[in-house]
Amino acid sequence: MNESNTQFEKRKRDHIRIALDPRSQADGQNGLDSIELIHEALPNLDFKEVDISTSFVFSGVSGNQSLPLSSPIFISSMTAGHENGREINERLARLSDRRQILMGVGSQRRELNDSNAAEEWLQVRKLAPRAKLLGNIGIAQLIKTPIDSIRRLVDATEAVALFVHLNPLQEVLQPEGTPSFKNSLIAIENLVKQAKVPVVIKEVGCGFSTDTLKRLEGTGIAAVDVAGKGGTHWGRVEGYRSEENEMLYQVAQTYANWGISTVQSMLNAEEAKVSYEVWASGGVRNGLEVAKLCALGAKKVGIAKPFLEAALQGDEALEALLNKLELELKIALFCTGSQNLSELATKRVIR
Ligand SMILES: Cc1cc2nc3c(=O)[nH]c(=O)nc-3n(C[C@H](O)[C@H](O)[C@H](O)COP(=O)(O)O)c2cc1C
Repeated sequence: MNESNTQFEKRKRDHIRIALDPRSQADGQNGLDSIELIHEALPNLDFKEVDISTSFVFSGVSGNQSLPLSSPIFISSMTAGHENGREINERLARLSDRRQILMGVGSQRRELNDSNAAEEWLQVRKLAPRAKLLGNIGIAQLIKTPIDSIRRLVDATEAVALFVHLNPLQEVLQPEGTPSFKNSLIAIENLVKQAKVPVVIKEVGCGFSTDTLKRLEGTGIAAVDVAGKGGTHWGRVEGYRSEENEMLYQVAQTYANWGISTVQSMLNAEEAKVSYEVWASGGVRNGLEVAKLCALGAKKVGIAKPFLEAALQGDEALEALLNKLELELKIALFCTGSQNLSELATKRVIR
């Protein structure tokens, strides 16, 4: 991609502004309205006993490792291309630090060509030394980048894991996109072998089919975040970056509802019977939805846009959002008679 840093910054700013526009949301399409948890009128526990803590377990260089987390909720990867970009990342990272939740950083593509770009993380790490960050790179970049450079991205953020995002619809609708995905699976396998951290594969809002999830089995990845349809839709976001009379705008309208919903992706994961962890995201907007996804088998649940909106307001708004999400999640556990997330995962749901 041959664009100057100024062009790159502007493009990212566009992304944030347009991602926050309600037209970019595939509202009502995450499938969660069709899932009900079963109410338990007689839970055999006190509310204060409800425990939403969990951990990220993976096989690392020194055997199996376990990273304790206060809840399955994580901040989904977001580019910080905004005039307050660094501040947004700092606020999100400080929340991850204070509250011990995972945080995906936005795409680190720019750091591959601009060593100064990585320096932002030094400051973030000073302010948030205990933040549990996951690095982020797109599959199109991974395919053509030497592994040493990818490792540097992990080192720069001191990441506990690396997200690789798969975004074919977005790449093909971006005027400056890189829709070159040939040999993706081999690139993922090589990365897993050579990265020193666990690799997590994600979409960006179009979900996963049973077949794709099966194809990822055997690559050695730690997890897939299905990042299904139902929230921020990158076909829409890319379309709205063009003018109405431009072809890409019109083509993006055709693909405005493309993708596999978050719930369908989770059902596909169940059918695929994969051995890696399955994480869920895509249009998750409250703690009850987090609980429904945990009941469907998600080990972690990611949220992007609401965390961005809160980060733009400040630390208090971020704390309030996480408090609300956690309370809603705890209530779901209590009212299904589940003391912890393992018990919730055994509960039957109504589809
Ligand atoms: C402003 C913004 C920037 C994003 N940037 C990235 C990115 O750089 N890398 C990535 O993997 N996903 C990125 N995403 C996608 C999210 O991680 C997530 O998969 C998707 O937005 C669905 O989450 P949501 O419906 O909760 O917003 C971004 C999302 C938003 C809203």
